[in-house]
Amino acid sequence: MKIALFADVHGNKAALDAVLDDIDRHHPDAIVCAGDAVNPFPGSEAVWRTLRARNIPTVRGNHEDYMLAYYQPDRNPDIRQLIQFMPIRFAARQLSTQTITEIDALPLTHTVPGPHGDDVLVCHASPLSADRSFSAGIDADMATALARIPTKTIAGGHVHMQWQMRWRDKFLVLTGSVGLPFGETTAAQYLMLTHRNGRWHARHRIVPYNLAETVRAITDSRFLVEGGPIAWLMLDELLTAELRMVPFLRKFCPTPRPETLSEWQNWVRRYLEAIGRWDALQPYIREAYLETRDALTASPAAEKLYSPRPTDCPR
Ligand SMILES: [Fe+2]
Ligand SMILES: [Fe+2]
Repeated sequence: MKIALFADVHGNKAALDAVLDDIDRHHPDAIVCAGDAVNPFPGSEAVWRTLRARNIPTVRGNHEDYMLAYYQPDRNPDIRQLIQFMPIRFAARQLSTQTITEIDALPLTHTVPGPHGDDVLVCHASPLSADRSFSAGIDADMATALARIPTKTIAGGHVHMQWQMRWRDKFLVLTGSVGLPFGETTAAQYLMLTHRNGRWHARHRIVPYNLAETVRAITDSRFLVEGGPIAWLMLDELLTAELRMVPFLRKFCPTPRPETLSEWQNWVRRYLEAIGRWDALQPYIREAYLETRDALTASPAAEKLYSPRPTDCPR
């Protein structure tokens, strides 16, 4: 028996298409999506509709939670307020009401029945939560949660890097990312689980895809304007497979955080200059940067236009 498991598409439709083509060529018995299908890239709605059209069981990732928080602000009011969450607001506004409703109904885990009861539990980060990975360490809470699960194999995503380990009688395995991989390659990644000799074996697969098509979808959309300067960092993550947003927020961006969009732009620019990426990004972000910089210089009121913070739920 074979299970194809993928995760972390993040709205990258060209990468999803390439992975699904590769999966189809291997004729697995089951296909599962381990969350973070959407947000931030502009193909989020198309990615979601593809998963539904193909009836691919999907679990809830933290990025699905972010989409829900935009429409149900009690879950996390910061999503509607903070400048650093502009890419989330951009992505959430791209989703149809039907998609939001379907995302709202997603389970945290999904069990794929295996041979002789050797099932596979699929989650996003861990069976405990959509944003706490067991790869970061198994503390007492995580150990209790894992021990309570009857399945021996637990598979997910979230870390955007291939990872696996054995813990007590469990096989824990995480797939690399389809749409926003970190590590040695920008190519899309997924996981093929094969049941052989009485147990599950993982094969991590790397699938080249048309990255230029995704970059074009980004520059053809308003992502780099309405997603604010954090969107520039996400584009650079896509182009380099290197972390940008987390190191910027943890080590470079001052605390308390800058208050205006102009200040955020300046800090992101300084960061990109410091790591030698500002010039490389110019062909993609220059138009968006100049449009917002000039508008903000002409009138500070333009901030409302570029970083809309809705007070009423639009749906
Ligand atoms: Fe992710
Ligand atoms: Fe995630």
